[in-house]
Amino acid sequence: GSGKGAAMVTAVAQRLALQSRLLEDSQTLSPGDKLRQVSAQLKKDMVRGLGKHTHHKAPVKMLPSFVRATPDGTEKGDFLALDLGGTNFRVLHVRVVEDLQTVGSQLCAIPKEMMLGTGQQLFDHIAKCLSDFLVSQDLKGQTLPLGFTFSFPCEQKEIGSILIRWTKGFNCSGVEGEDMVKLLKEAIHRRGDFDIGSVAMVNDTVGTMMSCGYRDQSCEIGMIIGTGTNACYMEEMKNVERVEGEDGRMCINTEWGGFGDDGSLRGIQTEFDLEVDKTSINPGVHTFEKMISGMYLGEIVRLLLLKLTEDKLLFEGQTSETLRTPESFLTKFISEVEEPDSGLENARRILSQLNLKWNEVDAHVVRLVCDTVSSRSARLCAAALAAIANHMRVSRKLDRLNTTVGVDGTVYQKHPNFSEELQETVRLLAPKCDITFLVSEDSSSPVAAVGGQ
Ligand code: GLC
Repeated sequence: GSGKGAAMVTAVAQRLALQSRLLEDSQTLSPGDKLRQVSAQLKKDMVRGLGKHTHHKAPVKMLPSFVRATPDGTEKGDFLALDLGGTNFRVLHVRVVEDLQTVGSQLCAIPKEMMLGTGQQLFDHIAKCLSDFLVSQDLKGQTLPLGFTFSFPCEQKEIGSILIRWTKGFNCSGVEGEDMVKLLKEAIHRRGDFDIGSVAMVNDTVGTMMSCGYRDQSCEIGMIIGTGTNACYMEEMKNVERVEGEDGRMCINTEWGGFGDDGSLRGIQTEFDLEVDKTSINPGVHTFEKMISGMYLGEIVRLLLLKLTEDKLLFEGQTSETLRTPESFLTKFISEVEEPDSGLENARRILSQLNLKWNEVDAHVVRLVCDTVSSRSARLCAAALAAIANHMRVSRKLDRLNTTVGVDGTVYQKHPNFSEELQETVRLLAPKCDITFLVSEDSSSPVAAVGGQ
């Protein structure tokens, strides 16, 4: 009966609360609470990442972008843009006259084998996509400047951009430690059928901040919650110890995905987080990202469902071959199951697709599991964003900080209540900051071409 069902849901909820260790009621967050500790720890780690003598050991890299102000829209003409490292690889043709227009764009698949192959194969593929695109746009004879939104941690050098490490699903050989601009240009020269002008590389967070800057001058933070997660913000030059100069501000790519790589998050990592890390292609790396972003959320849910089934709390103790297969529970299922109106119906359909024998209580429990995992993700992001905002407020010596965050990414945009929960939690954790959230309209890539030059 439904009484038993409700008791069951409660029992499971309690178990999950223990397992996720982050389910304090957001209304009663007290100073000693886990989320506040996470936020305070990240703030410390940001300072370590910026420091001249602490940077090399810091898990949060705080990479200077050399972007000092948002573009003022004076750069005009035609540009090419590449966007690699999110859900899709894209090539774009961008034109700036009065404002920024995308003239044409093309998606280009990157097969999974290629993400794990050699760097040369990857860059040859990128060059081929670019060449095909130029033909389709009738641009083959021109030498246009190119902006490359490259969504991985890079150390910006005077010329070029050195990949520190691959993250997310990529692990191509012979690329870490190399200059991405050089590898791209070499691949284009190997083809010999077209050429490009100057190349500017930006991280997707930086591109997002700049593109939102067109619409809102006070956009000084960029945040991505998609396949991966990361943020950048405008830091006081005097705090950027690794770059000469004291005046003005520079955009810092935090690479907050690496938070916890020194073990600082052990207290909140669950057995499921440890398992996701262990079976990933980069164990020990990007701990924070693995608790938050789209590449991993579905897998966390799957492992939780398996455990609850083993404990006979779901599906009468019977799993399925499909559910036992890694990555069979897609992150987009979480959004579908949590949809306010159609959620339970979606849950039933998805459970059948996964060849599970479910009943009504199971559908409710699965919904609860999804909610637990996505809401933990939203609240961890909120703790991280609050750390940035609080840090900006204090270093600018302000009583209140008024700022805008440009946001992009599938998890933030597609999940039914992720953004609400994130915003509510940030308000609690950064009470002296008034933060406006602006969703990026056409992703960061067009502006990378223009603003990065
Ligand atoms: C990963 C990358 C980072 C990027 C983020 C979002 O964390 O390391 O550079 O910004 O994903 O795409």
